Amino acid sequence: MTRHIAIVGAGLVGSGWAIVFARAGMLVRVFDQSAPIRNALPEVLSGQLEDLKAHGLIEDPATVMGRIQICDSLARAVDGALYVQESVLERQKVKAEASHAIANHLAPDAIVGSSTSGIPGSAFTEDVPGRERFLVVHPVNPPYLVPVVELVPAPWTAPETVAAAKALMEEVGQSVVTLSREVEGFVLNRLQGALLREAWALFDEGFATAEDIDKTVRDGLGPRWSFMGPFETIDLNAPGGVADYARRLGPLYQSIAASRPEAPPWTEDLISRVERERRSHLGAGDLAERRGWRDRRLMEMAADRQRRTER
Ligand SMILES: NC(=O)c1ccc[n+]([C@@H]2O[C@H](COP(=O)([O-])OP(=O)(O)OC[C@H]3O[C@@H](n4cnc5c(N)ncnc54)[C@H](O)[C@@H]3O)[C@@H](O)[C@H]2O)c1
Repeated sequence: MTRHIAIVGAGLVGSGWAIVFARAGMLVRVFDQSAPIRNALPEVLSGQLEDLKAHGLIEDPATVMGRIQICDSLARAVDGALYVQESVLERQKVKAEASHAIANHLAPDAIVGSSTSGIPGSAFTEDVPGRERFLVVHPVNPPYLVPVVELVPAPWTAPETVAAAKALMEEVGQSVVTLSREVEGFVLNRLQGALLREAWALFDEGFATAEDIDKTVRDGLGPRWSFMGPFETIDLNAPGGVADYARRLGPLYQSIAASRPEAPPWTEDLISRVERERRSHLGAGDLAERRGWRDRRLMEMAADRQRRTER
């Protein structure tokens, strides 16, 4: 018998996870505690699947949709599941309650990944029965378009749990990053945080506009970063590779870091100045349409990635 995948919490991220697993041919059972969210789910998923077809990323939306069952209880979704992706609200208490509820129905060999963006698993699985089978499996939204997932074990997560989550994520086409242990923000948000810290500070000190800072990433750092990381970037940016680069430019970067030892706060005044500039480029009423534009761009990039891996 093929064992299914369970999704608990089907908001933005949980519904995206349903597509990841169903697209890979797996049966998916989804539970959200909110009836309006459950009722809206078929339309939400169908729209996303049609968009994926329009970009050549799936062939048959109806077949993928046919693998997704929406359940009206957690027990129905979790009973007999091989893997559970917990994607409930980002609150420690809610995560703890959901983890306990999942543990009550979990098959003895099943494992549970939490989508949490930043709460370490140890903060909500410490007293959960079978806690060695729980870990963080942090995606980027939407997970069916942005492939990276960060696997973060709690101190009590078994190595076999990490290995099984890695194998499953690779099977469904995600790009896996495995952390050795917990750290706030994991890798992705720590890297994003380092860039944001400098972006807000440069704007605050009047060195450049928000648009020019965005342009520096969009038209400068970003194009390379869309297909290689910072270490590979610098490895290729000095004749002798990464060690040569580090010796030439290490002192500059150390001096830059030393010039900003504190993380300046994002004050209300600073936030309103950034907000004013952003709204002059994009009206508040146009945010939703622009998100649609962003998702279509992501689909084009995903289609390009797929073509390159097929070659
Ligand atoms: N939105 C993002 O960009 C993003 C990216 C990566 C990870 N995450 C993480 O994914 C998780 C979900 O985030 P989201 O953006 O989808 O939030 P969301 O608010 O869109 O969805 C959360 C859903 O969980 C449901 N829920 C709450 N308690 C529940 C319970 N006990 N059982 C079943 N369902 C329950 C809610 O009804 C809601 O539909 C969070 O941990 C978040 O940090 C979000």
